[in-house]
Amino acid sequence: MTPKRLDHIAVAVNNLEEALSFYVNQLGLSVHSIEEVKEQGVRVAKLRLGSTHIELLEALGPETPVGKFLQQRGPGLHHICLGVDDIEADLATLKSSGSRLIDETAKIGAEGAKIAFVHPRATGGVLLELAEPRKSNS
Ligand code: CO
Repeated sequence: MTPKRLDHIAVAVNNLEEALSFYVNQLGLSVHSIEEVKEQGVRVAKLRLGSTHIELLEALGPETPVGKFLQQRGPGLHHICLGVDDIEADLATLKSSGSRLIDETAKIGAEGAKIAFVHPRATGGVLLELAEPRKSNS
């Protein structure tokens, strides 16, 4: 597999509006979108940063993955995401090499991208997301 770019870095926050006031008013980043992704149990603010993004993640409830993360570890770096061209092929490659996956098949994430998570045990302790952007012509 050949990841093409750092798609985004995601930070789990307790309160999206509070976090946005720092990232936007203090750091001067601009909001690209704010979206509720029910399937992932999060509200996501995407902040533009050059050719990549920072994502702020607010849990939709305590039983969601980000809700549990916040309870166990508090706010902080949640995952990094690499952009790929063929996520199904990449997941098959990782699986065949014995890498531990959280998602063995892709799901639909923010903005219709196909996404899947690789277990931190496979990556040196960082939750890793792979994302194949939705094709603009579909
Ligand atoms: Co992400």
